[in-house]
Amino acid sequence: MRILAAAICAVAAIGCAAAAPDFDWGLPRGVAPPPVPADNPMSAAKVELGRRLFYDADLSIDGTLSCASCHEQHNGFAHSNPTRPGVKGAAGRRNPMGLANVGYFKTLTWADPGLTSLEQQANVPIVGLHPVEMGMQGQEAEIARRLGGDACYRQMFAAAFPEEEGAISLAVTTKAIAAFQRTLISWSSPYDRYLRGERTAISQVARQGARRFQTAGCSQCHAGPAFTDGEFHVIAPIRSDDEGAYEKTGRKADRAAFRTPSLRNLEVTAPYLHDGSAKTLGAAIMAHEGVPRLADQDLAQIEAFLRTLTDPDFLKAERFSVPKSFCGVARVR
Ligand code: HEC
Ligand code: HEC
Repeated sequence: MRILAAAICAVAAIGCAAAAPDFDWGLPRGVAPPPVPADNPMSAAKVELGRRLFYDADLSIDGTLSCASCHEQHNGFAHSNPTRPGVKGAAGRRNPMGLANVGYFKTLTWADPGLTSLEQQANVPIVGLHPVEMGMQGQEAEIARRLGGDACYRQMFAAAFPEEEGAISLAVTTKAIAAFQRTLISWSSPYDRYLRGERTAISQVARQGARRFQTAGCSQCHAGPAFTDGEFHVIAPIRSDDEGAYEKTGRKADRAAFRTPSLRNLEVTAPYLHDGSAKTLGAAIMAHEGVPRLADQDLAQIEAFLRTLTDPDFLKAERFSVPKSFCGVARVR
């Protein structure tokens, strides 16, 4: 990931000095910040704006849905509905994903290898048609009109994007949301504390499960501290009209291939899998047809380990929650 950050900086003329080295990520010891694109440096003002936008239903055509409607903090920013509908009851297609550590992922969403930045991804729910989520296709001017009609937003956009001289557009809106999402970092679970030297942070069964997770091959795909390799794998045959990454790439090998999901905060992100078809952790694990059958005891140990990836601070932190006031004035809706 460091290499990726270096590559992004090398390509962009502005260089990485622009990525605000003074931005305070507030990270635990030993955790590096995620890569930041040179054309969207981090700042406290931008993150604050992005947080407000993330919770603002004005980004949907009928004012009923915000990003947070499908990505709820207490669910690890996932949702309990297997396929949460969009505006006006438009049917959902896939399971809303948790957003812990999304800033570190090299590909985004379940099945689109071409979607590689949070800036790009934020357009999908706002203007996407397949499925319709927030329903703003062709309404970019309306977004600028709505947000620009609010004096506090005008102030916040000007502080976050001084180079835009007050112009509000979909492009800066998605940049701010992306900056906020880069701060959604979950690295303080009991397992992380255990790795940082707190030997008693997790139980002995969970420690056995952590080893079993390696020996059973889970960590080949659920790799590294983010528990995803960012790659697309087929773990079971197609069971619906969802053809996975094949829909984007047209490559036969990608039929039914989905991106390895992160496993952080799993305890609160049910249901599981791209279609939300697994209600329990056990069912999600059993759905991997290529993985050798696990004995009951091994499964219990692995599940105990996976439960140690729940980060209570992440699920409750004020800095990620719905803002209580805007520009010093208490929130009215
Ligand atoms: C109607 C529900 C809904 C709304 C509203 C919604 N999302 Fe999502 N989100 C989803 C679903 C479903 C997926 C998985 C989509 C897929 O794989 O095709 C997803 C995936 C994502 C991902 C990818 C996470 C990963 O691990 O790769 C990010 C990031 C994200 N959403 C951010 C946002 C932002 C930002 C907004 C607001 C601008 C938003 N979402 C609004 C349902 C929603
Ligand atoms: C070959 C790569 C690969 C291996 C090996 C693998 N997984 Fe997965 N895992 C995936 C993919 C891809 C998905 C998503 C599949 C889908 O949505 O249909 C997934 C989904 C999951 C989920 C559901 C997560 C969620 O948020 O929906 C859990 C839990 C899980 N895996 C645990 C495990 C465990 C435990 C092992 C070892 C026994 C394992 N995986 C081995 C690739 C893998």
